[in-house]
Amino acid sequence: REIPLGQRGIKTVSNPPRIPDFAFAFDIDGVLLRSSKPIPGAAESLALLKEEGIPFILLTNGGGKHETERVAEISEKLNVPLDPSVIIQSHSPFAELVNGPDEARALGNKRVLVAGGDEDGCRKVAEQYGFKNVVTPGDIFMANPSIWPFSKVFSDYYKAFARPIPNPVDPVDPTRGLKIDAIFVFNDPRDWALDTQVILDLLLSSQGVMGTFSDKNGRADLPNRGYQQDGQPHLYFSNPDLLWAAAYHLPRLGQGGFREALEGTWAAVTGGPSKGVELKKTIIGKPYQGTYEFAERQLLRNRSTFFGTRELGPLQRVYMVGDNPESDIRGANSYRSAHGSDWQSILVRTGVYNGGEPAWVPKTIADDVQKAVEWGL
Ligand code: G3P
Ligand code: MG
Repeated sequence: REIPLGQRGIKTVSNPPRIPDFAFAFDIDGVLLRSSKPIPGAAESLALLKEEGIPFILLTNGGGKHETERVAEISEKLNVPLDPSVIIQSHSPFAELVNGPDEARALGNKRVLVAGGDEDGCRKVAEQYGFKNVVTPGDIFMANPSIWPFSKVFSDYYKAFARPIPNPVDPVDPTRGLKIDAIFVFNDPRDWALDTQVILDLLLSSQGVMGTFSDKNGRADLPNRGYQQDGQPHLYFSNPDLLWAAAYHLPRLGQGGFREALEGTWAAVTGGPSKGVELKKTIIGKPYQGTYEFAERQLLRNRSTFFGTRELGPLQRVYMVGDNPESDIRGANSYRSAHGSDWQSILVRTGVYNGGEPAWVPKTIADDVQKAVEWGL
């Protein structure tokens, strides 16, 4: 459903509504920024939408900082004032797992492992969401470096932010008896090796207790051959991107690359799916329906806040501008809105996508935003 902007959609509006019945969702990496460098046309496009009172959100599989911090950085780089409510990051929906209505979604008081990103940054984001007992792989490593013999080279990095393991039962090895109730990967891991080892230890443990190995593992008579059948913590990933557009001219491996590596190690250790040992996990982020539902709810809230009590017609169309066919575009094309909005994907060539030259793929983001605004108003 990739609709060339010049051929349908907003041009059919004969009497433009007082309030725009369309909005934009912008991916960040590869659309607005390349690593931290603004992409030509990005600043002008956001400025134009703000000037015309057209709502937009920033919908990214990136993260690692709190929404307020990330949006302040983007505002500064693009010289466009932005409110924290406009950004949805990969882990933003995890905030709904703090005080959810049921056990699986009421993790705020449970002890969780948060891996990924600049670990201290992700820990602070989780705590700002309301998670009260956050442990990082760096905490575990600094408490017992023998857990992963090869991360000693990173000791200075971990020393800078690691916290003591809470309430250790064994002063010699504070990680013994440490029980983890859920595992989150908030952003792209920096130390794939340590994170893989610690996550694997927990997935093979008894009841999520570090230093144990469940005697149910490997039991062919049990579902999943016993693996993850002994109260092990559930594993949440925030971003499926195998590749993303960073500063380098070729796409780089993203959090999806880490997950594939972890799943490969899981399969090698347990036999994996070919032996009926699935790695149970939850993956959120673009292109998945749940992330687009979360984003649309935020967009509708922002729209009603922005226009106040004025009579708001329904939001008819959302233009999702992205650089990654497997993420932004696939997600927008497959998204089914419960609010009746039609999400239309716009693929730019300033990020991951650098393929063929379909005539309508704009050179930069400004081309399509300008056209959409002209036709929509
Ligand atoms: O880690 C960021 C990367 O996976 C993609 O970010 O903004 O292109 O969704 P974005
Ligand atoms: Mg992108």
